[in-house]
Formats: sequence, structure tokens, C-alpha cells
Amino acid sequence: MLIRIPAVLSASQVAHMRGQLASAEWVDGRATAGAQSASTKRNLQVPEDTPAARALGDMILAALGQNERFMSATLALRVFPPLFNRYDPGMNFGAHVDNAIRLVKPSLGTGAPIRIRTDMSATLFLTDPGEYDGGELVVEDTFGSHSVKLVAGDLVLYSATSRHHVATVTRGSRWSSFFWIQSMVRDEAARNMLFDLDTAIQGLRKQVGDTAQVVSLTGLYHNLVRRWAEA
Ligand code: NI
Repeated sequence: MLIRIPAVLSASQVAHMRGQLASAEWVDGRATAGAQSASTKRNLQVPEDTPAARALGDMILAALGQNERFMSATLALRVFPPLFNRYDPGMNFGAHVDNAIRLVKPSLGTGAPIRIRTDMSATLFLTDPGEYDGGELVVEDTFGSHSVKLVAGDLVLYSATSRHHVATVTRGSRWSSFFWIQSMVRDEAARNMLFDLDTAIQGLRKQVGDTAQVVSLTGLYHNLVRRWAEA
């Protein structure tokens, strides 16, 4: 399932990030790739432990924490500190599946790194489609190939189990933030059903208010989360 989360960042937040990233240090993106994906990865990234990257990453985490659609779609237990990448003309990322486990480096003195199981992958677009040609995120699932190119500030969530690639940029530059989510609900089918149920209940609430039936369905939703979630 591909889920679009519109307007995670406002236009002014996007402008602020782009201003900071314009003067950031950019290194070869293979720094964070696994062995298979390193052979097909051609892009640039901001090193994950630079203060600039961490400050921008924290802004994104704060925005996600207030985003009901993101929380409902992911039921996030942990979110990987957001990373930043960039594709200039000729750059791309060939077909790969993301690593199952990611380590979050401990900040000084906090001991062992934290492990995140990557249940969902996220791309937050920081450049608009008109600013570059190519550069589509192409995600393959059981329903076929899906090409994604969103306006700046919008985010796409997709299953981390899926094969995906980024098409070659042929003009301009494509900037984005990317990260992974470990969900409290590991089973993808269960997680998707909970999202559909929550979305339907929220829509119904808007139409009819908190009727006894809506309260009952909301209770059912929470009881299913209780049954399936590991917190
Ligand atoms: Ni990937």
C-alpha cells in the first residue's frame, strides 16, 4: 500500500530546509547503503551525524508527531532520524529492497545503538516536480509498479518490504528526506486494515458526530490495536 501524506511541511518550512541544505556538506550516498544497494546507488547525502542534518531531522519528527494521518497510517513505535539526499543530473538508485534493520548511532555516552526494524519506508519531497525531470520513486508491489513524484512538503509511505528504485534525473535536482518507521503493528495486512478502519471512522464522525455506533466502532478500533500492537 502506498500512502500519501499531504503537507507534512509548510511552504516556509520547506524553504528553511532548502536554505540550510544548500550550504550543507554533501557526500557519496553509498555511506548508508547495504552491500547490494551500494552497487546501484548514485546520489549525494548529508552525513547523518552533522548538526545541520539533526536539527532539520528534528523539525520533521516534530511535524510528523502532530500529523494524525501519519500516526494512523504507521502506528509508529520508532522513527529513524531523517536523512537527506539529492539527485543531480545523471544520478539514480537502482532496484533494491531496504535493509531490514537499521542502527541509530548512540549520542555520546548513551551506550549501545538502538535498532529499528524497517516496516515502512518514507520519502518526504523537498523539491517540486517542475524543478527536475526524471527522479520518480518507482515502487513495485503485488499490484504492479507505481511511480511517485509529489509536491514539496508531501510525504509518501510505502512498505519497506517492496522493491523500489529512483529513476535517473535528467534535468535539475531532486532533494528529499528519507527515513524508516518501525510500527507497533508488525503485520502489514493488520496495519493496513487498522488504517482503513480509522480513516472510515474519522470520516463517519465528521458526517454524523459521536453517535453510539461511532463510539462503539472507535472502541472496536482501539481493542484491535490493543490486540495487535507491541508498545
Ligand atoms: Ni530504498
